[in-house]
Amino acid sequence: MNTELDWSNLSFGYIPTDYNVRCRYSNGKWGEIEVSSSEIINMHMAATALHYGQEIFEGLKAFRGKDGKVRIFRLEENAKRIQSSATGIKMAPVPEDIFRKMVIEAVRLNARFIPPYGSGASLYIRPLEIGMSAQIGVHPASEYLFMVMVTPVGPYFKEGFRPTNICIMREFDRVAPKGTGRWKVGGNYAASLEAGERAHELGYSAVLYLDPKEKKYVDECGPANFFAIKDGVYITPASESILPSVTNKSLMTLAEDMGIKVEARHITVDELGEIDEAAACGTAAVASPIAEIHDLDNDTKYIVSPDGEPGPITTKLYNKLRAVQLGEEPDEHSWNTIVEGV
Ligand code: PLP
Ligand code: COI
Repeated sequence: MNTELDWSNLSFGYIPTDYNVRCRYSNGKWGEIEVSSSEIINMHMAATALHYGQEIFEGLKAFRGKDGKVRIFRLEENAKRIQSSATGIKMAPVPEDIFRKMVIEAVRLNARFIPPYGSGASLYIRPLEIGMSAQIGVHPASEYLFMVMVTPVGPYFKEGFRPTNICIMREFDRVAPKGTGRWKVGGNYAASLEAGERAHELGYSAVLYLDPKEKKYVDECGPANFFAIKDGVYITPASESILPSVTNKSLMTLAEDMGIKVEARHITVDELGEIDEAAACGTAAVASPIAEIHDLDNDTKYIVSPDGEPGPITTKLYNKLRAVQLGEEPDEHSWNTIVEGV
């Protein structure tokens, strides 16, 4: 059965699909992969995920390409990152082959929800792992549930590839200096909600977080990394409190392929006055251009895009990334996994 959704007007929301895929860890090993058509999880009220935040997740996308084939972008990178997140908060790491099988299976089983080529939408894949053991002491669970759910999505920022304004707000940090920022832990997102909602109320699309120790350097941009173009160079923060973004890593490679110099280094807040382009980058955000950065604490406005248009290098990088994901241009770095038979 084909699915009729208004593919070109999807938002970044949740639309139920047919199946999700699950695997349980107990007695020191991962069990069989199970397919479920239920959106509900049965769990103990004393599970560590509920009390002590043992929850980690991933985000990746599948695309219907120009040639009709379905491609999942860089799934090995997400497999590695969820293992790193698991180790970071003492959860059982999901083996890469289980991650791979379950992601492909979830896409295959929900093929009718993969948006058509040309719609601008994609199938968002959300793997997540939770601590399931019933306990009240603060220590790691011995039982885990790993699941992969999918949902068709449009752009994360409703503006799509149009510049938006963001803000700096020193009142809140989303992570601690040597804390969980480098891992994709649910608690980081809980810690970002108050600042995020305040920013939205003030009309900003996201908060540009500063390093939580000195509040001197740029860290990341809400649920995305930050990059800027300065004198033709791609600059992006090197920081121990940000998530290593697969999208950012890919854009850095594509920039180098284009002969653009890349620098991963500290970016001071003052330097925002000298940049020519900026964007928030991530699986959901892709590369969302930034028009203005408003420092709310001292009422300074850094105007990145005076004409309100995306910058030329950001546009080139965005187009190239999309073209690789959609099979319009060769996948020179073997980033895509083709899902056969869908
Ligand atoms: N930073 C944060 C806090 C995120 O939630 C995300 C989204 O996954 C990113 C950066 C971008 O990472 P990626 O490009 O791997 O999606
Ligand atoms: C992603 O880009 O995949 C994210 O996880 C960001 C956000 C939706 C939490």
